[in-house]
Amino acid sequence: MKSLDLFLLLLIVAFTVSRPVEAQNQAGFISLDCGLVPKETTYLEATTNITYKSDANYTDSGLVGKINDAHKTLVQQPLWAVRSFPEGQRNCYNFNLTVNRTYLIRGTFMYGNYDGLNQSPSFDLHIGASKWTSVNIIEETDTVMPEIIHVLTQDRLQVCLVKTGKTTPFISSLELRPLQKGTYIAQSGSLVLQSRYFSSDSTSIIRYDEDIHDRVWNPISDDGSSSISTDLEVQTNNFYDVPQAVMKTAAIPKNASAPWSLVWTIENTTALSYVYMHFAEIQNLKANESREFNITYNGGKLWYPQFRPNKLSIITMYSQVPLTSSNGVYNFTFEMTSNSTLPPLLNALEIYTGVDILQLHTDKDEVSAIMNIKTTYGLSKKISWQGDPCAPQLYRWEGLNCSYPDSEASRIISLNLNASQLNGTITSDITKLTQLSELDLSNNDLSGEIPAFLADMKSLKLINLSGNPKLNLTVPDSLQQRVNSKSLTLILGEKVLNPTPKKESKKVPMVTIAASVAGVFALLLILAIFFIVRGKKGKRNEAPGPPPSVTSGIVKSETRSSNPSIMTKDRRITYPEVLKMTNNFERVLGKGGFGTVYHGNLDDAQVAVKMLSHSSAQGYKEFKAEDANSRRGGTR
Ligand SMILES: *[C@@H]1O[C@H](CO)[C@@H](O)[C@H](O)[C@H]1NC(C)=O
Ligand SMILES: *[C@@H]1O[C@H](CO)[C@@H](O)[C@H](O)[C@H]1NC(C)=O
Ligand SMILES: *[C@@H]1O[C@H](CO)[C@@H](O)[C@H](O)[C@H]1NC(C)=O
Ligand SMILES: *[C@@H]1O[C@H](CO)[C@@H](O)[C@H](O)[C@H]1NC(C)=O
Ligand SMILES: *[C@@H]1O[C@H](CO)[C@@H](O)[C@H](O)[C@H]1NC(C)=O
Ligand SMILES: *[C@@H]1O[C@H](CO)[C@@H](O)[C@H](O)[C@H]1NC(C)=O
Ligand SMILES: *[C@@H]1O[C@H](CO)[C@@H](O)[C@H](O)[C@H]1NC(C)=O
Ligand SMILES: *[C@@H]1O[C@H](CO)[C@@H](O)[C@H](O)[C@H]1NC(C)=O
Ligand SMILES: *[C@@H]1O[C@H](CO)[C@@H](O)[C@H](O)[C@H]1NC(C)=O
Ligand SMILES: *[C@@H]1O[C@H](CO)[C@@H](O)[C@H](O)[C@H]1NC(C)=O
Ligand SMILES: *[C@@H]1O[C@H](CO)[C@@H](O)[C@H](O)[C@H]1NC(C)=O
Ligand SMILES: *[C@@H]1O[C@H](CO)[C@@H](O)[C@H](O)[C@H]1NC(C)=O
Repeated sequence: MKSLDLFLLLLIVAFTVSRPVEAQNQAGFISLDCGLVPKETTYLEATTNITYKSDANYTDSGLVGKINDAHKTLVQQPLWAVRSFPEGQRNCYNFNLTVNRTYLIRGTFMYGNYDGLNQSPSFDLHIGASKWTSVNIIEETDTVMPEIIHVLTQDRLQVCLVKTGKTTPFISSLELRPLQKGTYIAQSGSLVLQSRYFSSDSTSIIRYDEDIHDRVWNPISDDGSSSISTDLEVQTNNFYDVPQAVMKTAAIPKNASAPWSLVWTIENTTALSYVYMHFAEIQNLKANESREFNITYNGGKLWYPQFRPNKLSIITMYSQVPLTSSNGVYNFTFEMTSNSTLPPLLNALEIYTGVDILQLHTDKDEVSAIMNIKTTYGLSKKISWQGDPCAPQLYRWEGLNCSYPDSEASRIISLNLNASQLNGTITSDITKLTQLSELDLSNNDLSGEIPAFLADMKSLKLINLSGNPKLNLTVPDSLQQRVNSKSLTLILGEKVLNPTPKKESKKVPMVTIAASVAGVFALLLILAIFFIVRGKKGKRNEAPGPPPSVTSGIVKSETRSSNPSIMTKDRRITYPEVLKMTNNFERVLGKGGFGTVYHGNLDDAQVAVKMLSHSSAQGYKEFKAEDANSRRGGTR
């Protein structure tokens, strides 16, 4: 038993050859401020030196919103805006990345009553077709920051928000950080963060730019231990790139001779646990002094005997095989040996659990093809067309049928785009769906000719092209041959039975709607004092580690302003509706004294939406005078 545990334990020490630090300058970072508008916006968050940009390029669904102004001073700017997904079961972010690279993926969720509904949203997060974790927001100022370390099995990554009940999924920020290959390894699957602590009496978290990989380290101290620190430099180059600031402090037990235990609970008792401990001797030992201790866990199982931390140099200790605990309790005990004159020491600790991110998904070439088809025909309005096309079966895209072979990628076997307002020619991307047996493009507005390439699709048994009045119905010879040989049925349907309703731009007089939007364009630079309070707060269910001595600094909000909405003479329009009408304020028509005017669609009418700018008090008067029938809601 003893030798087995020892054999599986790895110690990673610092090495002196310096290597180029590639992530020094946010290289490879993707930092999205979800719901940030306009979509070209980028900014430098001064408290972290991280540059954030809008998420608009990475998702084609959702509505933008703003947290209650009262909460803005509590958190940094990336949490001021949110994107919510009231429509569809599953909505996804898509990233083009490099296969086999390891990424730390972190979502941040701060509800802030952005929708004025005073809810406690809960929903799931998926990576591709597999569940990563659940997000449960209880208080409106809770900040939840789930994090996963994931090795990409494809050159694309999908992070999806999945509705699980009645509440609407939303997200405040989404961050991707490349990590060194092979540093954090799960036996299979990926690693979900439970806790990442460093010993410190301070309350400040450490992240970028002290941590070049932007891991978030939470300070921790408890009654049984005290924190020591050094001003000297610690060698930290052992692949883990633990920040100096993390390694310069360490916890030692107050009672040196008594065994010192770190105990935490993982709620899922069948979970596989991965523990990383970072050590460095930061005290200047005299000739007659020594620090040596045994590390055991869960009732005396030896983890590492007679361990001596290296002087001012990191040692990272982890087990190659995951740990389990039948009752979910993990108890690591540090005890000085009889030869030691100094108590045990620990600088930092990371705890993860394994999660299986299934490799089962749709064939990657078919994913590219169907994504191209989606783009070509502007099918982002299909609300189920999010995430992996076939997997999981529960969220398969509407209109698709797939094969689900054992331990192989799914293939698309039928595609039904009946009455989907397709226009233009029939795209050759369809030929990349090589196992397609049925293709239904009926009742659209397709034009051009019937392409001969359809004849080369060997699996194809049925093609329905009826109800496309602009389509040249001349059948290419090769296709005719397949019809003649009865290997293919081609439905052309002379008559148009269900012509697609044409969207005519009606000549309706412009309707003016006035919107007061709480702070959307108010250029209020409120200095954020601290970020996200602490990662711990949102993880209360997972009961990680010894409790921190300092309670988090969340201030409860007293103000509950209602959802900003617009009143017209005969119609009330909510803020989310305004966002939809204006397609997230996409098209600017002009600028007035009072603010910006946006193009919008209300029912079938084109409307101009005026935004009242809070930066102009004079503008507000003018605005009111101009639109006497409109009343404002949700002002502050
Ligand atoms: C979005 O994508 C376009 C086109 O690729 C690019 O020009 C633009 O800079 C991107 N915007 C952001 C905020 O990344
Ligand atoms: C941000 O970067 C500047 C310039 O490198 C530096 O002076 C400043 O201390 C950094 N701020 C933070 C919060 O790290
Ligand atoms: C990812 O690549 C696809 C084409 O392969 C492209 O259409 C899409 O815009 C890219 N997305 C981003 C966020 O760069
Ligand atoms: C990714 O890793 C797998 C398994 O280790 C390997 O077979 C494959 O060639 C790698 N792909 C690339 C592009 O490096
Ligand atoms: C320290 O631990 C030893 C051994 O467990 C115990 O005898 C002693 O009372 C403890 N001292 C204090 C101050 O708690
Ligand atoms: C608990 O962990 C096991 C092993 O990783 C996993 O299969 C199971 O789904 C987890 N249960 C919950 C409720 O997360
Ligand atoms: C170590 O030596 C110093 C004097 O150099 C002495 O003061 C101290 O008590 C000694 N400590 C131990 C544990 O023997
Ligand atoms: C942890 O293990 C130690 C040594 O086996 C034991 O003395 C201690 O009571 C345990 N603590 C908990 C909370 O189980
Ligand atoms: C520490 O481990 C060694 C080797 O297993 C053992 O001989 C020694 O008794 C242990 N010391 C303590 C204090 O548990
Ligand atoms: C303790 O120290 C003595 C003298 O340095 C050494 O002979 C002995 O082997 C050490 N014991 C252990 C358990 O390391
Ligand atoms: C298809 O319809 C869209 C929107 O109605 C239009 O912008 C586009 O030009 C049309 N494409 C073709 C090829 O007719
Ligand atoms: C339809 O396509 C055929 C074959 O390319 C062509 O000969 C014919 O002129 C086209 N008909 C029309 C109405 O464009």
